[in-house]
Amino acid sequence: MTAPSTDNLRVDGDRLWSTLTDTARFGATAKGGLCRLALSEEDAAVRRWFVSACEAAGCSVDVDELGTLFARRPGADPALAPIAIGSHLDTQPTGGRFDGILGVLAGLEIVRVLNDAGVVTRHPIEIIDWTNEEGARFAPAMLASGVFAGAFDADYARSRTDRDGVTFAAALAAIGFAGERPAGDHPLAAHFELHIEQGPVLEDAGTQIGVVIGVQGIRWMDVAVSGLACHAGTTPMALRRDALQGAARLAAAVDAVGRSEPGVSLSTIGIFQAHPGSRNTVPETISMSIDLRHPRAEGLDRMEADVRAAAATIAAELGVEIAIIPVWSSAPVVFAPACVGAVRAAVADLGYSHQDIVSGAGHDSVYISRVAPTGMIFIPCEDGISHNEAENITPAQARAGADVLLRAVLAFDAAP
Ligand code: HGY
Ligand code: MN
Ligand code: MN
Repeated sequence: MTAPSTDNLRVDGDRLWSTLTDTARFGATAKGGLCRLALSEEDAAVRRWFVSACEAAGCSVDVDELGTLFARRPGADPALAPIAIGSHLDTQPTGGRFDGILGVLAGLEIVRVLNDAGVVTRHPIEIIDWTNEEGARFAPAMLASGVFAGAFDADYARSRTDRDGVTFAAALAAIGFAGERPAGDHPLAAHFELHIEQGPVLEDAGTQIGVVIGVQGIRWMDVAVSGLACHAGTTPMALRRDALQGAARLAAAVDAVGRSEPGVSLSTIGIFQAHPGSRNTVPETISMSIDLRHPRAEGLDRMEADVRAAAATIAAELGVEIAIIPVWSSAPVVFAPACVGAVRAAVADLGYSHQDIVSGAGHDSVYISRVAPTGMIFIPCEDGISHNEAENITPAQARAGADVLLRAVLAFDAAP
């Protein structure tokens, strides 16, 4: 009996869209976005929903030691390593309804459509929810996929703390998702990830699908600017060692570094906190974060060097101390030609307009590309807005992305 042709197989766009909108109740914010921080109760709720939905679709679900979920649909040849369809269910504090979620729920839709069609793939299929992709609660980002790929060890991940001093390990135990399986002890035949672009490139070009050929480099640093707390009304300006003024000048320098290569380099200060934070006390310390992005490692090195040089000058001028602590460095990656080719062929088969694109955002695929052939698919998002409650896509865009993902996975599965 020849296997039924899958050439005309398409996802059920309505079912995918209702899955996306139904699960947006877990961590819903008043402004229509999501706050589903990693290992929070909201994350636990969507995880429990995801496990039961995958089990109802005939998958067996396993959990590794860092809470990453693997929902496995058996293949014809159990000796073959699974083809993974992965992304993340955790969000930013004021996140959108599609960042990460689209990739995980598109995986569930693909399992459902294969079930409906009675198609048995050669490889097992595994839908993966990678723990703590965002890094918003526990820095760095992409932490569980990083451990899986050997970039960090599991104890380092478990020791990470949030702003309230809660460790990753304690939060994971509190929601009951600490599994037995060691993170990383699990070969994958390939990893495909569908994601919104989170930027304006595809929408501005009117392109339907982004064939992601790689991801730019990322570097995170924490900065502590220390001065002298003193009275706002009695301390002459010339005698102050004002931590906030030091941090403000450093922030301007970081912005200049981000603008140093227009269209290439990027810099962001997302956290900026004054201590003691009193109106009539000159601040003693400022804690701030720096996020640098560049497509090339040497570009990141230059940007970091420029920031450090500016900090030294400002510290000397104002008599403050500026400590810059490295937090995370993710090198630029290029995805596997076999996976990029499968995505490109799928888009061409389906007749969608497409273009190659390098991802500005980090994704779990960055680390997984170290241990398995990996490819990503982008769809546009409205005004390129993401990490914002207004993040939006259309049902047609979700369906298009999921159909490309389906065809790429089936093509990879059928390849000799
Ligand atoms: O930071 C990033 O680019 C990703 O959203 N974690
Ligand atoms: Mn994401
Ligand atoms: Mn994100």
